[in-house]
Amino acid sequence: MKGIILAGGLGSRLLPITRSISKQLLPVYDKPMIYYPLATLMQAGIREILVISTPASLPLFAELLGDGSDLGLELAYLPQDRPRGIAEALIIGREHLAGGPSALILGDNVFHGTGLPEHLSQARDRLDGCVLFGRRVPDPQRYGIAEVDAAGVLRSLEEKPASPASDLAVTGLYLYDEHAPEMAAELAASERGELEITDLNAAYLEEKRASIVTLAQGIAWADTGTPESLLATSEYVRHLELQECIRVACLEEVALRMGFIGPEACYNLGLKMRNSSYGQYVMNVSEAWDNS
Ligand code: DAU
Repeated sequence: MKGIILAGGLGSRLLPITRSISKQLLPVYDKPMIYYPLATLMQAGIREILVISTPASLPLFAELLGDGSDLGLELAYLPQDRPRGIAEALIIGREHLAGGPSALILGDNVFHGTGLPEHLSQARDRLDGCVLFGRRVPDPQRYGIAEVDAAGVLRSLEEKPASPASDLAVTGLYLYDEHAPEMAAELAASERGELEITDLNAAYLEEKRASIVTLAQGIAWADTGTPESLLATSEYVRHLELQECIRVACLEEVALRMGFIGPEACYNLGLKMRNSSYGQYVMNVSEAWDNS
């Protein structure tokens, strides 16, 4: 399975901050926002990842992340000329996916919690059509909303409904089989002129090949697209990191734990950042790993 991170868009809910910088490069506490979705894909065991962003921002992502080889990854970059909808990512990524299944994640979505790698790999193994990840929210009008029956079977999907059928939000992580690019290409644009991801998921649902997994209690999820949620997520990450002496979405540590790189390579990545507490953490984790 290959991954796609969609990190374009206008970031209009964060203006004026996003007038000259991409939202997904903004810090979520101590690291760029895109680190979080990238860490999530890595935790799902995905190593070949396409980053899609605006033509102006794409070189900045490439400068930040490089070709990924330091982390045992293969990163590629492609532009989205203008925000024509989340589902367009699958059309842009068609060649990259090369007829295989995919995991699409939104560049402003943060997932964290114990058991996340297992949760994701179970969903990968069960993939038949598309798998969505749901979370109950207090403000369902803001999200794609799923309705499930008593047995947890997905019954309906609706994008930002005025009168939501449930409070189960569809998060910005989607697993698809190999048909997603061709199905995305058949979608009609919505009223706001976009290829809506909810329409693609609904097309899978119509074929009875869409399911939803409710995220386990211990897994946190945030869409960091507003000033309030950006700050709240930064505070959440800061609190966790200080309380538990861990780092959330530390790419070097994830690469080490996933077996993508060894402890020496990991240590050297930390060494390059030794003046920051992040770099020190990477060095410490590598040493502890080497001694274990
Ligand atoms: O966060 C989960 C929600 O994400 C889902 O519940 C919704 O179903 C889904 O539509 C999406 O809602 P948003 O309101 O967050 O979508 P937004 O248009 O803000 O786009 C999400 C991210 O994708 C954002 O970081 C920008 C990026 N994006 C978006 C579009 C439409 C692109 O890079 N290109 C695009 O064309």
